[in-house]
Amino acid sequence: DGVTVIDHPLVQHKLTFMRKKETSTAGFRRLLREISTLLCYEITRDLELTTERIETPMATIDAPVLEGKKLVFASILRAGNGLLEGMLDLVPSARVAHIGVYRDHDTLQAIEYFFKAPEDIGDRLVIVVDPMLATANSSIASIERLKERGAKNLRFLCLLAAPEGIERFREAHPDVPVFTAAIDERLNESGYIVPGLGDAGDRMYG
Ligand code: PRP
Repeated sequence: DGVTVIDHPLVQHKLTFMRKKETSTAGFRRLLREISTLLCYEITRDLELTTERIETPMATIDAPVLEGKKLVFASILRAGNGLLEGMLDLVPSARVAHIGVYRDHDTLQAIEYFFKAPEDIGDRLVIVVDPMLATANSSIASIERLKERGAKNLRFLCLLAAPEGIERFREAHPDVPVFTAAIDERLNESGYIVPGLGDAGDRMYG
């Protein structure tokens, strides 16, 4: 019901290596980029097609092309950028929104420090990306901002989610389907996903 676990074997294999604490910064980054292309492939598999008349060297045909306006990828900084890179490898013409939010260490509330989105996001599919869905404070707030700016057709993509976060997210934004590579056990007292992979932003950028 609105939550899809992307259980492709390559995704699951790569995720295991990202979880390992001995994986280096360089290794973590490379894995995230690889895994994000696979996640992008899965989250776009039901996009509508139309046809365009083209000429091959041999014939004229009506060939499939994506329908509608170009996609928007909305990256929740910082860690979202790790997913964004691989998504843009597959959909290089996508528009990009950047949303800067960090979690206050004591209250776990999402604090916004940056917001920049293309003007016409109302007519486009917006795929919001962030590796972690923990309390869901960051993603809920980011999607509220995108909706204020007119976004109507949204999906949320993450790598790891806590059951508590998914529940809160679905309550706040029942119209936004969630795609994740895994749903972990729980959140700990400090708001970290367990067993998780630690803090994705720190593992990528220090
Ligand atoms: C992490 C993560 C998510 C958020 C998830 O970001 O990348 O954005 O926390 O937690 P939530 O669901 O409880 O809001 P962080 O605040 O560490 O910022 P960073 O990506 O810049 O390191």
